[in-house]
Amino acid sequence: MRRLRGVTARAGAECTIDGRACVNFASNDYLGFADDPVTREGALHAVRDWGTGAGAARLISGDYALVRELEELLAAWKGVEAALVFPSGYMANLGAIAALAGPDDTVVVDRLAHASLIDGARLSGATVRVFPHNDAARLDEILRRPRSGSVLVVTESVFSMDGDCAPLVELVACCRRHGAMLLVDEAHALGVYGGGRGCVAAAGLTGAVDIVVGTLSKALGSQGGFVAGSRALIETLVNRARAFVYTTGIAPAAVGAARAALQELMRSSARVERLWENVRRWRAAVAGVPVRGDGPICPVITGSAGAAVALAERLGAAGYYAPAIRPPTVPRGTSRVRITLSAAHTPAQLDGMAAELRHARMELMKENNVMDVHD
Ligand SMILES: Cc1ncc(COP(=O)(O)O)c(C=O)c1O
Repeated sequence: MRRLRGVTARAGAECTIDGRACVNFASNDYLGFADDPVTREGALHAVRDWGTGAGAARLISGDYALVRELEELLAAWKGVEAALVFPSGYMANLGAIAALAGPDDTVVVDRLAHASLIDGARLSGATVRVFPHNDAARLDEILRRPRSGSVLVVTESVFSMDGDCAPLVELVACCRRHGAMLLVDEAHALGVYGGGRGCVAAAGLTGAVDIVVGTLSKALGSQGGFVAGSRALIETLVNRARAFVYTTGIAPAAVGAARAALQELMRSSARVERLWENVRRWRAAVAGVPVRGDGPICPVITGSAGAAVALAERLGAAGYYAPAIRPPTVPRGTSRVRITLSAAHTPAQLDGMAAELRHARMELMKENNVMDVHD
């Protein structure tokens, strides 16, 4: 049974959760913007100038300048013509996929794609096909089969639960060969890879990916999502994405905070560099522990759900909060503790967590052999 945990205090990477003081290793706040003077000020300015609510859907009550400025900034940052902000990343995926594919079309999704991508594919009414995780050769085979209608391929650039990166160059080539559109969700890549601009930019594929989705809710420390691409794409979404058309515009505070974070990120890469220093430090400190990926998403695979819960509880008791992730969020037999690193973590917090992880794993393995680790 899933249970919400109450957080009663928060300061940077520290929080009080279920009454216990913890260092938070569960957040996607990769750059520490979610509790930072830069974003607090941005949000406060936005509230002072624009109030607290958009009042209605953007097509109904008018489109306030603040959100348009953020969209221009996002488009410039991603190196594309235009961007459209949604109230969440989940809605950006739902809105984009359901607007771009219909019952005559096919959506081909990576097996480990985020729920919002899968839900978007289902909502579209298109035929949904799944390709094995990051397997461009199998995708090629699927796309080779003749079919009517258009084809949309959907993937993440950095996978939220595994922390690994998609083979974007191969995926772009494959989609081009078969005339398929490609949507890449950069939720966990923005602010982290490519100096902060994401994996699409890092791979030199700016403009080569038809639809880029991002979120304001992770590295930018705010709330909201966006789609970036051609002006024609954005016009289509303004007219057809129901998750955009039929919902109240994003709140000014969220736009102000995201804009402040983005401006800071475009001005200086210091936070991104600090994040990667932290990644190198923590990963070196846990050398020998099987941790997937090579970035700030650090899944420690335990296999059974019981082992994941036991490990997360040990870490929590020592003051380090990292959640156990179980099916259906991840496939059966791959339960894990998902540890996420941030630029906001101090060296002492990172070292303390690494030492506790090593200790807790060893203790659990000795006690009852529950650590069914496989990688
Ligand atoms: C890959 C991916 N896409 C989209 C989302 C949804 O973004 P948001 O939290 O802004 O709704 C998430 C968040 O969990 C995610 O991990």
